[in-house]
Amino acid sequence: MPLRVLVILLLVFMQQCTPDSCVYRDHITVLEGEPYHLKCCLPYDHHHHHRNSSIRWTKRYGSNRTMTLHSNGRIIFNDDAIEFWPIEMIDKGIYSCAVGNKESHWNITVTKRSEHGCFHPKYLITKEVEVGKSLIINCTHDLYQTEAYEISLFKDCSPIPGNHKANIRKNAVLNDAGNYTCIFFLYKNKRSFNVTKTFNVKIKDNTDTMPTLYGNSINYVEAELGKEKTLNCTALLRDPTAIIYWNDEHDNDTNIHKEKFNRSGSNGELYVSSLLKINFVKEENLNVWYNCTLASPGILETIGFFLKKKEGPTDVSRHIFIIVLVSSAAVIFLVIMCVIYRVDIMLCYRDLIRRDETLTDGKEYDAFVSYLKDSQSNNGDELKFALEILPGALEKHFGYKLCIFERDIIPGGAIFDDIHSLIKKSRRLIIVLSENYMADKVSYELESGLHEALVERKIKIILIEFTPINDFTFLPQSLELLKSHRILKWKADKSLPYNSRFWKNLRYLMPAKTAK
Ligand SMILES: *[C@@H]1O[C@H](CO)[C@@H](O)[C@H](O)[C@H]1NC(C)=O
Ligand SMILES: *[C@@H]1O[C@H](CO)[C@@H](O)[C@H](O)[C@H]1NC(C)=O
Ligand SMILES: *[C@@H]1O[C@H](CO)[C@@H](O)[C@H](O)[C@H]1NC(C)=O
Repeated sequence: MPLRVLVILLLVFMQQCTPDSCVYRDHITVLEGEPYHLKCCLPYDHHHHHRNSSIRWTKRYGSNRTMTLHSNGRIIFNDDAIEFWPIEMIDKGIYSCAVGNKESHWNITVTKRSEHGCFHPKYLITKEVEVGKSLIINCTHDLYQTEAYEISLFKDCSPIPGNHKANIRKNAVLNDAGNYTCIFFLYKNKRSFNVTKTFNVKIKDNTDTMPTLYGNSINYVEAELGKEKTLNCTALLRDPTAIIYWNDEHDNDTNIHKEKFNRSGSNGELYVSSLLKINFVKEENLNVWYNCTLASPGILETIGFFLKKKEGPTDVSRHIFIIVLVSSAAVIFLVIMCVIYRVDIMLCYRDLIRRDETLTDGKEYDAFVSYLKDSQSNNGDELKFALEILPGALEKHFGYKLCIFERDIIPGGAIFDDIHSLIKKSRRLIIVLSENYMADKVSYELESGLHEALVERKIKIILIEFTPINDFTFLPQSLELLKSHRILKWKADKSLPYNSRFWKNLRYLMPAKTAK
């Protein structure tokens, strides 16, 4: 049947594609914290899950006890493999998988990762390359290559400058020796894992090979302005005719000088170093190349150093200085704004927390209004202010209760006693001041209020300067004790709107009260 043949062919093909990751060693050592995959390599029918053809995984405890393993969040059975996400120290032990009456065993040892470093010195794949021959490192993994969402290659546990790929292909130089770690980042069950694979690369310094320069052919070096900087060009010379030299572009610069050192190695080889010293790094020394060349018969090798500016501490402290300056300016600005708008802020705050200081003091009125009542003097404006404008705003708009003697008290009776008791029942005494005020009999109200304010400390006085007053000496001296901000200037039309500064300041001086 052609279809069946096709399916079988496909299966055979798939079988060949899946990497054969069977482990035939008895002892396996794995790294703690990494995912691990162990395949049962017994003949096993993938498609008939009969009881006797399915795989049983067991783990041996102690000498004789065994336990059948079941999948949990961390241990997963995947086809004919057991997977650990990740493997932990407690997983060490003897594992077996059985199909029918056949069985395989492994003794799994789990080792801790070394605390520093990204690899374990026990798990190294050694690679030996001769100087000048091609060094190839490819990060591949039989199991996790395609599953990995990212693969990184590190050298001695640090990123390799200029190399963001997961492979290296270059001509080996002595400096290439080191441990190269491939890290495969995996994502499983909403967790991130990584699997490492480390190559220990040894560069064979074959004495028969040609002279060579140490280091990468292109080097980006940081230098700080004003500091000294030394560039080191070192070559391994076997041929006495070989020389190294710094290219001559910088020969005229008196700020630069060169030094040569020779050193013999244990095998008779000769190391020659040529140092290029910049006494004080200046702007003109930056962003240029300093190239060193090795010349010997048949060889011309150059390595280049490119000087980049390093942000020195002076720049950092300048940044800090600017930050401090800006932030203190901001703080000063804020403080000034707070002082200027303290009244608005305070009113806003009162509204927000719905503060009300009138509830428990047992007083009846929020303010007693004292003004000039003498009908003979030319005081029509003042009367209008005290009887219309002031109550219109404070009572109708802002919800205060005022006591205005002529309005609220029926004529007759002992006026002075009444006034005194009314003032006692008020929280504030608002005095509408004008030149004529003191001449009037209202001075009794003033004195009574002053007594309450200054002696009994039960009432606060608010002065409204209704007409400009040049000379305050007519006021009782005790009034001078009042704080100046308790004197509000009425500025006719400018003060009329309810959102004017005048009403804000007045409300600020009035007791806090939640409008009903
Ligand atoms: C890899 O995983 C281990 C443990 O899960 C963690 O300690 C380590 O930092 C990881 N390495 C990287 C490069 O993320
Ligand atoms: C220059 O570099 C070589 C090779 O890395 C090193 O052996 C030598 O000590 C260095 N010389 C100086 C003066 O730093
Ligand atoms: C120095 O080396 C760099 C990098 O290899 C190169 O771009 C530059 O042209 C070289 N300069 C000289 C003068 O050889």
